[in-house]
Order: sequence, then C-alpha cells, then structure tokens
Amino acid sequence: MASKKITITVRIWRQAGPGAEGRFEEHRLEEINTDMSFLEMLDVLNEKLTLAGREPVAFDHDCREGICGMCGAVVDGIAHGPERETTLCQLHMRHFKDGDTICIEPFRGRAFPLVRDLVVDRSAFDRIIQAGGYVSVNAGSARDGNTIPVAQHLAEQAMDAAACIGCGACVAACPNGAAMLFVSGKISQFALLPQGRPERKRRALAMVRAMDNEGFGNCGNERECENVCPKGLSIRNIARLNREYLRAALVGTD
Ligand code: FES
Repeated sequence: MASKKITITVRIWRQAGPGAEGRFEEHRLEEINTDMSFLEMLDVLNEKLTLAGREPVAFDHDCREGICGMCGAVVDGIAHGPERETTLCQLHMRHFKDGDTICIEPFRGRAFPLVRDLVVDRSAFDRIIQAGGYVSVNAGSARDGNTIPVAQHLAEQAMDAAACIGCGACVAACPNGAAMLFVSGKISQFALLPQGRPERKRRALAMVRAMDNEGFGNCGNERECENVCPKGLSIRNIARLNREYLRAALVGTD
C-alpha cells in the first residue's frame, strides 16, 4: 500500500503521577506518514510538545519489534489498538484515516498502578514469575533436541504458550483485571514439557497465590484477553492452569 500523509487528532491521557489528577489532552498532528508506526507517531507528538517547551508524553517501549512486551496503551478502547495479534509498536498509521480522532489511554488495572501518562507499573508480573515461573533443575549444557522425546503436538502447544511477552494487554482488556492468560501461558510452557514436570504442582500453587496477592481479579470467561493478546495465546491455557492448580491443591505437592 502506497504511503500517504494524514492529519489526525490524538486525545491522549495525561497524568503527572499516581496521585495527580488525570485528564485527556487533544493535539492535532498534520503530515503523519501512514508508514509510521504508532510509537513513531507518538514521537512526532513528543517532538512537537518539546519544541513548545512542554512535557512530552511518557510511554513505555524498548524493542519496537513486537518482542519485548514493553509497549502498550489502550487505543480507541482496545488494548494495543484495532489490529489483531499486533503490539502497539507494530501497529501502523495506515490503519487510521485522514481526519480520525484517536483516543489513547494507559493500560488500566488494579494491579497495574499508573506511574505517569501512559506508563503503568507492571512489576506484579515479575513477582508472579519470581514465585515459580522457572525451572530449577540443572539442565546442563544444551542437549540434542531428540534426547528427550516430546510429542510434536505438546512441543507446539508449549511453544505457543511461551510466545507470551508479558505486555499486560490481557489484564487491561479483562473486565475483572485478571492475569489468568499471562499466568496460564507461563504455567503451560513448563507443564507441557518433561523439564517442567518435577515442579509443576509447587509452581501452580505458588504462581496462583502470587497472582491473587497482587490484586488481580478472577477469570469470568469473557475472552477479552484472548482477543487482544498480541501473540494469540488461547484461553485453552487458562483451562490447563485450572487443571494444574486443582491437581496440586487436591493431591498436594511432593
Ligand atoms: S516495544 Fe517491544 S514489544 Fe513493543
């Protein structure tokens, strides 16, 4: 698709800090190239604000390649914007029309306190991983892939679950602010493979406990998380998480 220039208005959330009053601010941006990514459009806005002597909009980003999970905002009511399986940094301005007004808000969730503007504190995810999202077996040096037989369908399901980049869109989209899709991805990627089985019960209990302690809500089968996940994680992982948790709770850890 040939690039063109469009004029848009952004209605963007500004908030100086956690206790400060927030408000939407409107800015008209002209000559936005449709080949730009959404974050590059925000760069243009920030350059404009900086040249005018104003505070730029704070937003998270790192790789800008859809890998790291740092970026994220709610665009026109949808976490990461209107394109499916797309991070905010991979969303391009060609998906917007000349004259559009685009509403941009931070990921909101009880367990994701706002830091500034579009930046929220997602360290709750880190603490859930610290509670059990790893394997502690000594795996030694890399072994030949065929040494430990893993059925292909299980390997593929584990890889699909491991695609989670921990962006938090699932939490922002869930009416209950649940982190079940994130946690279920982390639980699944290990539970499906032999290397993750020794600790599967302890892991499920510890990660669910950490999730609850962080103030995330419960899954209500709304499926909003699945719709906005930039890596296409399925809620089938949530069903697996529930089974892993039940097994551990009923049978107990070793
Ligand atoms: S900035 Fe890394 S995924 Fe978007």
